Amino acid sequence: MSDIILKAANLTRDFKVGGSLFAKPKILRAVDDVSLSVQRGETLAIVGESGCGKSTLARMLMRLIAPTSGEMEFEGRQIDRAEGRTLRELRRDMQFIFQDPFSSLNPRMSVGRLVGEPLETHAPELPAKARRSKVAELLAQVGLRAEHADRYPHEFSGGQRQRIGIARALASGPKLIIGDEPVSALDVSVQAQVINLLADLRDRLGLTLVVIAHDLAVIRHMSDRVAVMYLGAVIEEGPTDEIFTNPRHPYTMALLSAIPVAEHGHTRQRIPLTGEMPSPIDPPSGCRFHTRCPFARTDCKTAAPPLRDTGTAPGHRAACHFFEEIAAEAPPPSAPQDSNRTDAARARFALYAEAIAGTGTRPRETT
Ligand SMILES: Nc1ncnc2c1ncn2[C@@H]1O[C@H](COP(=O)(O)OP(=O)(O)OP(=O)(O)O)[C@@H](O)[C@H]1O
Ligand code: SF4
Ligand SMILES: [Mg+2]
Repeated sequence: MSDIILKAANLTRDFKVGGSLFAKPKILRAVDDVSLSVQRGETLAIVGESGCGKSTLARMLMRLIAPTSGEMEFEGRQIDRAEGRTLRELRRDMQFIFQDPFSSLNPRMSVGRLVGEPLETHAPELPAKARRSKVAELLAQVGLRAEHADRYPHEFSGGQRQRIGIARALASGPKLIIGDEPVSALDVSVQAQVINLLADLRDRLGLTLVVIAHDLAVIRHMSDRVAVMYLGAVIEEGPTDEIFTNPRHPYTMALLSAIPVAEHGHTRQRIPLTGEMPSPIDPPSGCRFHTRCPFARTDCKTAAPPLRDTGTAPGHRAACHFFEEIAAEAPPPSAPQDSNRTDAARARFALYAEAIAGTGTRPRETT
């Protein structure tokens, strides 16, 4: 039975940019009509190039900023205009993990206070002694020791600081955690540990995760489903294995062209991604990807393609007028599987695979 914890319908967020005494501000549409659902217990990854609106979407889902229009529900409760008590409860139930753990942790607060602070807010009735033991328990959950509570953020490594950020996020007993590039500031070897920790916490605590990541290797190993964004909109979504082995939108194909091919026996069509992403102040007409799409036809400039079922797997949808023809005309080439791997990418991929298999945490079967 489907159990949707978070649901967004037609979310849009505009920002006013520029503007002076003599010029009117322009409207930048950072997120444009995004609808998505997050199932309880799953990890949904949101991926796309820099500036495509991932963080703006995440901040809206958290209700850190309000949508310009659209609706959101958390556990069936309307939250897009939530305030007061509903918003306070939401702050307890949904937590954010930041990209840069150092700047998100107050350097003047000890780890004990940093992790204990949300407890003071969300469980003020807890006596000081119980709070201290809860802090020790939270530190243990993220692989830190109780004595770390007396130290300060600058005394820790990047990976340990991210663990402190995670402990702080866990303190309120959240149901859903949104991580905005939670590992991209960390060394590759540490990334794998933090990814494993998040996956492990999700399984042990029954959490739901929404993870924003640039790195497709991270997404491949962490997520159950992927939503691909381009210029403010979701242009493809579906189960992770399906998106990685059977992408239908040319933009997703282009993103995947640039990463190592992980699956034995799978090869992938190479689609070069050329040019810059257009400005969201003045987005292209019709299909927003037409200025960079190698398959674009005249129709693409005028008619915007809706997200529609690909028919290849449940929940797989893509926003392209011609994905059927593209898939039929250009089947995956027979290029050697490793042809587009760089040594660094190969090493990183191996590291994730090894680390994840080593802990027995959610290994991904290859097909
Ligand atoms: N407060 C703001 N005021 C004006 N424009 C903004 C604001 N926040 C974001 N934007 C713009 O909205 C667009 C989407 O930004 P956002 O930070 O959501 O992208 P992103 O996908 O998270 O990028 P990155 O991968 O670089 O973090 C960008 O064009 C950005 O410049
Ligand atoms: S609708 Fe046209 S421009 Fe857009 S992705 Fe499909 S083929 Fe490319
Ligand atoms: Mg961002």
